[in-house]
Amino acid sequence: MTRSSEYITTEQQAEWFKTDSTKYDLYLAYCMQPGAIIYDCGYGVVHKCPDQSLLTGGLLPNYRGQHFGQELFQNLVNHCPYGKPIRLEVLKTNHRAFTVYIKLGFKIISEDPRLHYMEYDNDPVI
Ligand SMILES: CC(C)(COP(=O)(O)OP(=O)(O)OC[C@H]1O[C@@H](n2cnc3c(N)ncnc32)[C@H](O)[C@@H]1OP(=O)(O)O)[C@@H](O)C(=O)NCCC(=O)NCCS
Repeated sequence: MTRSSEYITTEQQAEWFKTDSTKYDLYLAYCMQPGAIIYDCGYGVVHKCPDQSLLTGGLLPNYRGQHFGQELFQNLVNHCPYGKPIRLEVLKTNHRAFTVYIKLGFKIISEDPRLHYMEYDNDPVI
Protein backbone atom coordinates (compact mmCIF):
# COMPACT_ATOMS: atom_id res chain seq x y z
CA MET A 1 0.00 0.00 0.00
CA THR A 2 2.94 2.26 0.61
CA ARG A 3 6.70 2.03 0.43
CA SER A 4 7.01 4.53 3.24
CA SER A 5 8.73 3.25 6.35
CA GLU A 6 7.63 6.31 8.32
CA TYR A 7 5.14 6.03 11.13
CA ILE A 8 1.60 6.05 9.74
CA THR A 9 -1.03 7.60 11.99
CA THR A 10 -4.49 6.22 12.63
CA GLU A 11 -5.92 9.27 10.80
CA GLN A 12 -3.76 8.55 7.73
CA GLN A 13 -4.90 4.93 7.78
CA ALA A 14 -8.55 6.01 8.02
CA GLU A 15 -8.06 8.44 5.14
CA TRP A 16 -6.46 5.71 3.02
CA PHE A 17 -9.33 3.39 3.80
CA LYS A 18 -11.93 6.00 2.73
CA THR A 19 -10.23 7.06 -0.49
CA ASP A 20 -8.06 4.24 -1.83
CA SER A 21 -9.16 0.96 -0.33
CA THR A 22 -11.73 0.25 -3.04
CA LYS A 23 -8.84 -0.51 -5.42
CA TYR A 24 -7.66 -3.35 -3.18
CA ASP A 25 -8.97 -6.62 -1.81
CA LEU A 26 -8.00 -6.61 1.84
CA TYR A 27 -7.85 -9.87 3.84
CA LEU A 28 -7.35 -10.41 7.53
CA ALA A 29 -5.57 -13.57 8.68
CA TYR A 30 -6.66 -15.43 11.79
CA CYS A 31 -5.05 -18.21 13.84
CA MET A 32 -7.21 -20.78 15.53
CA GLN A 33 -6.07 -22.70 18.57
CA PRO A 34 -7.64 -25.75 20.24
CA GLY A 35 -10.86 -24.71 21.87
CA ALA A 36 -11.56 -22.39 18.93
CA ILE A 37 -9.80 -19.38 20.39
CA ILE A 38 -9.25 -17.13 17.41
CA TYR A 39 -6.57 -14.45 17.09
CA ASP A 40 -6.07 -11.95 14.31
CA CYS A 41 -2.46 -12.47 13.25
CA GLY A 42 -1.92 -10.57 10.02
CA TYR A 43 -3.26 -9.14 6.81
CA GLY A 44 -2.90 -9.48 3.08
CA VAL A 45 -3.70 -7.21 0.17
CA VAL A 46 -4.37 -8.06 -3.47
CA HIS A 47 -4.36 -5.17 -5.92
CA LYS A 48 -6.10 -6.46 -9.04
CA CYS A 49 -4.82 -4.33 -11.94
CA PRO A 50 -5.99 -4.88 -15.54
CA ASP A 51 -2.73 -6.60 -16.52
CA GLN A 52 -1.43 -8.04 -13.24
CA SER A 53 -2.14 -8.68 -9.57
CA LEU A 54 0.10 -7.08 -6.94
CA LEU A 55 0.47 -8.63 -3.50
CA THR A 56 1.59 -7.47 -0.12
CA GLY A 57 0.97 -8.62 3.43
CA GLY A 58 2.43 -9.24 6.83
CA LEU A 59 2.07 -10.96 10.18
CA LEU A 60 1.95 -9.36 13.60
CA PRO A 61 5.35 -9.75 15.32
CA ASN A 62 4.19 -12.50 17.72
CA TYR A 63 3.16 -14.71 14.81
CA ARG A 64 6.32 -14.45 12.72
CA GLY A 65 8.82 -17.30 12.56
CA GLN A 66 6.16 -20.03 12.73
CA HIS A 67 5.69 -20.67 9.01
CA PHE A 68 2.35 -18.84 8.82
CA GLY A 69 3.72 -16.53 6.14
CA GLN A 70 3.72 -19.18 3.45
CA GLU A 71 0.09 -20.01 4.18
CA LEU A 72 -0.88 -16.34 4.14
CA PHE A 73 0.74 -15.65 0.77
CA GLN A 74 -0.49 -18.94 -0.73
CA ASN A 75 -4.02 -17.82 0.13
CA LEU A 76 -3.42 -14.44 -1.51
CA VAL A 77 -2.15 -16.18 -4.66
CA ASN A 78 -5.29 -18.33 -4.63
CA HIS A 79 -7.42 -15.17 -4.67
CA CYS A 80 -5.76 -13.76 -7.81
CA PRO A 81 -7.36 -14.18 -11.23
CA TYR A 82 -5.86 -16.87 -13.47
CA GLY A 83 -3.90 -15.98 -16.55
CA LYS A 84 -2.41 -12.70 -15.35
CA PRO A 85 0.99 -12.43 -13.68
CA ILE A 86 1.10 -12.12 -9.91
CA ARG A 87 3.84 -9.79 -8.80
CA LEU A 88 5.34 -8.44 -5.62
CA GLU A 89 8.42 -6.62 -4.47
CA VAL A 90 10.60 -7.37 -1.48
CA LEU A 91 13.47 -5.54 0.18
CA LYS A 92 16.76 -7.35 -0.41
CA THR A 93 17.33 -7.20 3.34
CA ASN A 94 14.08 -9.11 4.04
CA HIS A 95 15.54 -12.62 3.81
CA ARG A 96 12.62 -14.25 5.57
CA ALA A 97 10.00 -12.89 3.18
CA PHE A 98 12.24 -13.69 0.20
CA THR A 99 12.50 -17.32 1.37
CA VAL A 100 8.70 -17.56 1.65
CA TYR A 101 8.22 -16.23 -1.90
CA ILE A 102 10.86 -18.55 -3.40
CA LYS A 103 9.22 -21.54 -1.68
CA LEU A 104 5.85 -20.56 -3.15
CA GLY A 105 7.32 -20.45 -6.65
CA PHE A 106 7.95 -16.73 -7.20
CA LYS A 107 10.92 -15.90 -9.41
CA ILE A 108 13.05 -12.75 -9.58
CA ILE A 109 12.23 -10.81 -12.75
CA SER A 110 14.25 -7.67 -12.04
CA GLU A 111 15.97 -5.80 -9.27
CA ASP A 112 17.32 -2.47 -8.18
CA PRO A 113 19.79 -1.72 -5.38
CA ARG A 114 17.06 -2.07 -2.71
CA LEU A 115 14.43 -4.40 -4.07
CA HIS A 116 13.81 -7.72 -5.77
CA TYR A 117 10.81 -7.66 -8.12
CA MET A 118 9.25 -11.11 -8.25
CA GLU A 119 6.61 -12.87 -10.31
CA TYR A 120 4.55 -16.01 -9.91
CA ASP A 121 3.72 -17.97 -13.04
CA ASN A 122 -0.07 -17.89 -13.03
CA ASP A 123 -0.96 -19.52 -16.34
CA PRO A 124 -3.96 -21.84 -16.01
CA VAL A 125 -3.02 -25.54 -15.97
CA ILE A 126 -4.23 -27.21 -19.16
C1 LIG B 1 7.68 -12.03 5.89
C2 LIG B 1 6.71 -12.89 6.68
C3 LIG B 1 5.34 -12.87 6.03
C4 LIG B 1 7.28 -14.34 6.67
O1 LIG B 1 6.40 -15.20 7.35
P1 LIG B 1 6.93 -16.10 8.56
O2 LIG B 1 5.85 -17.06 8.87
O3 LIG B 1 7.40 -15.21 9.66
O4 LIG B 1 8.17 -16.84 7.92
P2 LIG B 1 8.78 -18.23 8.38
O5 LIG B 1 9.01 -18.28 9.83
O6 LIG B 1 7.94 -19.30 7.84
O7 LIG B 1 10.17 -18.19 7.63
C5 LIG B 1 10.19 -18.41 6.26
C6 LIG B 1 11.49 -19.04 5.91
O8 LIG B 1 12.53 -18.05 6.03
C7 LIG B 1 13.59 -18.60 6.78
N1 LIG B 1 14.21 -17.51 7.50
C8 LIG B 1 13.82 -16.96 8.67
N2 LIG B 1 14.66 -15.96 9.01
C9 LIG B 1 15.59 -15.91 8.03
C10 LIG B 1 16.73 -15.10 7.79
N3 LIG B 1 17.07 -14.12 8.65
N4 LIG B 1 17.46 -15.32 6.68
C11 LIG B 1 17.11 -16.29 5.82
N5 LIG B 1 16.05 -17.10 5.98
C12 LIG B 1 15.30 -16.90 7.07
C13 LIG B 1 12.94 -19.62 7.70
O9 LIG B 1 13.89 -20.58 8.12
C14 LIG B 1 11.88 -20.20 6.79
O10 LIG B 1 12.45 -21.17 5.93
P3 LIG B 1 12.08 -22.72 6.11
O11 LIG B 1 10.62 -22.81 5.71
O12 LIG B 1 12.99 -23.40 5.15
O13 LIG B 1 12.30 -23.04 7.54
C15 LIG B 1 6.60 -12.39 8.16
O14 LIG B 1 7.82 -12.61 8.84
C16 LIG B 1 6.21 -10.92 8.26
O15 LIG B 1 5.05 -10.59 8.23
N6 LIG B 1 7.21 -10.02 8.37
C17 LIG B 1 6.98 -8.58 8.50
C18 LIG B 1 6.24 -7.96 7.32
C19 LIG B 1 6.91 -8.28 6.01
O16 LIG B 1 8.14 -8.32 5.91
N7 LIG B 1 6.08 -8.52 4.99
C20 LIG B 1 6.53 -8.84 3.65
C21 LIG B 1 6.68 -7.58 2.85
S1 LIG B 1 7.43 -7.92 1.29
